Amino acid sequence: MPYTVPKLTDFSTTALDSAVRELVSALEEESKAVRSEAEWKIFHDRWTARKNGIRTQIGELWLNAAPKEAKREVGRRVNSIIEQIETTVKDTDDRRKNLEILKKARAAGIDAQIDQARRALELSERLDVTLPGIRRPIGAEHPVIKTMNEMIGVFRNLGYSVEEGPEIETDFYNFEALNFPPNHPARDTQDTLFIAGQESKPLRDRLLLRTHTSPVQIRTMQKMKPPVRVVCPGKVHRNDALDATHSPIFHQIEGLAVDTNITFCDLKGTLDHAMKAMFGSSVKTRFYPSFFPFTEPSADVQISCIFCDGKGVRDGAPCRNCKASGWIELLGCGMVDPNVYGFVDYDASKVSGFAFGMGVERIAILKYGVDDIQLFFQGDVRFLEQFG
Ligand code: DAH
Repeated sequence: MPYTVPKLTDFSTTALDSAVRELVSALEEESKAVRSEAEWKIFHDRWTARKNGIRTQIGELWLNAAPKEAKREVGRRVNSIIEQIETTVKDTDDRRKNLEILKKARAAGIDAQIDQARRALELSERLDVTLPGIRRPIGAEHPVIKTMNEMIGVFRNLGYSVEEGPEIETDFYNFEALNFPPNHPARDTQDTLFIAGQESKPLRDRLLLRTHTSPVQIRTMQKMKPPVRVVCPGKVHRNDALDATHSPIFHQIEGLAVDTNITFCDLKGTLDHAMKAMFGSSVKTRFYPSFFPFTEPSADVQISCIFCDGKGVRDGAPCRNCKASGWIELLGCGMVDPNVYGFVDYDASKVSGFAFGMGVERIAILKYGVDDIQLFFQGDVRFLEQFG
């Protein structure tokens, strides 16, 4: 049964209080039941309509009907009821609005959450310009990248440009065009990591992780006609177990110069200069016969030991860094094998050139006196910040 305003005959405090209690509880109950705008309109009119709303009715049925001596008490209660009706009607409207927003947000699901997060973010981003700033520490260049850039700088000054190639290579670029015939034992020295599932392709198209930066020589010569002078820095991969001097991922810098009349003297002069620029002008170089399929003749380059000045003895004891030999092996090089020109459409009877390849970590180890190659890959800030 919906609430109706009773006619009052008993104006005692107890009777008044009970009438007020009954009205207020009806007000609250009806407010709770409101769920939509339409329901709220009905609720609003029923309680506050000027003509016949409950608010008006209590004025007439309670206040006007009260005997003179009860007027004050009745008036006080009627006023407070009117106030309560007004706030309840307004609160009910707010509540049902919020309810509708919530309903919409639930329907919109994730969008609502994003909005809420965005609002929270905006609040938290308000800036207090009176607070002291947060100083961001400047990062340090990684020692491997630093060494790489230094070496590239040396060759840039000699007029070399920089070329890069992919880390996932084909057998053709990593081996075949570099004069490693299929099944040639020289391939064994490269500890190659092959990409799985390539068996259905012809050998030359099979993918692998490049084991050296030498394939960039081929890519460069396919792209450019001589004269060519490039250095090719990059990451290479080998199936090596890690220890203090080996890592399955490391970096190399490749070099290639092809032109007319390039001789072994040019190779020697260039690398001697580069080693002096990297390790100091007192460093000597020595070229030692070696073998690489893509160079003929080939050589390993050694530098005089930078720890014992090439003496093989340090502080009265055999130098550990050069195993007392006075020399440290640093890189491979040679004159480009004419067979290689056949793969890139260069005329081997007209051009000649040299190539070289060096491990960046190895150079960094020597230059900065690092005793474990793993330190370069562990990301330990205490190690890295020393190069800042
Ligand atoms: N690619 C060789 C390696 O990783 C290094 C090398 C040797 C590069 C001689 C050259 C070179 O360009 O001429 O073992």
